[in-house]
Amino acid sequence: MEATDDPMPVPICVPALATERRFAQHLREYLEQERLSDGRYQLQRVPGGRVALPVLEEKLSQLCLPPEMPCELVRIQCPVLSRAARRCTPAQRLRDELRLLLGASWSEELERDVPHAWQRHGDLVLLSQDSFKAAAWESLGKGQQGLPCRPRCCPHCPDLPGCYVAGSVLWETVASALGARRVARRGRVMPDGMRTPSVTLLLGQHGWVEHVDNGIRYTFDVTKCMFSPGNITEKLRVASLPCSGEVVVDLYAGIGYFTLPFLVHAGAAFVHACEWNSHAVEALHRTLLLNGVRDRCRIHTGDSRQLQLQDMADRVNLGLIPSSEQGWPVACRVLKKDTGGVLHIHHNVETPPVPAPPQNVVLLAEQGSAEAASPGGEARHPAEDGGEETLGARFRPEWQRWAEATATRIWGLLAELHGRPWSTSILHLEAVKSYAPHVHHLVLDLECRPVLPL
Ligand SMILES: C[S@@+](CC[C@H](N)C(=O)[O-])C[C@H]1O[C@@H](n2cnc3c(N)ncnc32)[C@H](O)[C@@H]1O
Repeated sequence: MEATDDPMPVPICVPALATERRFAQHLREYLEQERLSDGRYQLQRVPGGRVALPVLEEKLSQLCLPPEMPCELVRIQCPVLSRAARRCTPAQRLRDELRLLLGASWSEELERDVPHAWQRHGDLVLLSQDSFKAAAWESLGKGQQGLPCRPRCCPHCPDLPGCYVAGSVLWETVASALGARRVARRGRVMPDGMRTPSVTLLLGQHGWVEHVDNGIRYTFDVTKCMFSPGNITEKLRVASLPCSGEVVVDLYAGIGYFTLPFLVHAGAAFVHACEWNSHAVEALHRTLLLNGVRDRCRIHTGDSRQLQLQDMADRVNLGLIPSSEQGWPVACRVLKKDTGGVLHIHHNVETPPVPAPPQNVVLLAEQGSAEAASPGGEARHPAEDGGEETLGARFRPEWQRWAEATATRIWGLLAELHGRPWSTSILHLEAVKSYAPHVHHLVLDLECRPVLPL
């Protein structure tokens, strides 16, 4: 989903104007002059000895051809990329098209402001918060979102929509350069407890997207729900857990990032998914239907701390950061009281930077240090200095201390709840990602069992 310089995605079909060969040159010049031509695709032969010249989908409403240029609007299936488009990466194409658009106003400041990476969700490109911030974009970026544009104006193109929604010229250019139809820009995730993203739709009419991840189809509205690509390692790990026949409670289900892997890949018999954000609930509902597992999941809409369940779960997922602590009492309550189960506890742990060790300490560590023996995950994360490293290689004592303190707290909660001793043991500690400088998102797999009387 994260896209940078991947080759340009080829859409299934693009609009084009079909005309007789003798009019082709004239038509091409006209389309280029009016900036309607879609130079990303090659001209193609179409039945009837005619040729079709690709035109920009978003400019269809502006087509107003002179009557001496007879042509017909057609769709080219599986268009062939032009030679220029094949040579160029999307990032380069974006820069080139914007430079063309700005002409003499182009500057180094604008060049620096053009993004090199974005997220792609089908035909929607999600830009990062810090892209297109320079003041010069302002006037170009002010679109007429939602306003009806020109009515049907071309007698040769009966397929033209009578009413077309115009975006701004800037966002249309961005979409066209990146082979997309919709553009949105990310803001900060709101600190409202619902992880609401402040995403603004810049071009297009709605933010619903579909995204396939590890064979699971997720659908959600990017302007209303958060998607965490950084949690992919944890989603894969959940998918591989042995949950056959189990009842799982997902206390912070969101759009189903973990609920779906539990159901689709891990073999869970049933999942109770709790979520209080109505937009996420809607997305979760649609995602369960899309994957054919709606009948194995009950959505509990509301505050999971008030969940009216007890003594029924083999496994509880607590996927809330910075801390899922508020959910610990309910997690203990829903675990089966006779057999117990496993909790997956997410938490952000602060990890102060480690000073670079002197050479002789490194040599000692190579002979077998506590770090080398510690249970870190295999996940990779961006190092705080910007490079990549294996999280396991820098397993920190703070993580172990947090895991042990959590195991002790849960042990106490279970004993208090049931009035008899339980055991808790650390099965695994997974480092999901570096969340912020010196803050790591960890998941503790904690096995909790009632201690049987002798
Ligand atoms: C981090 S997000 C999505 C989680 C998903 N598990 C992930 O990590 O990608 C956490 C979700 O928990 C929901 N949430 C937070 N507190 C909640 C509560 N007390 N009851 C129900 N849902 C809650 C939020 O609305 C949000 O959708």
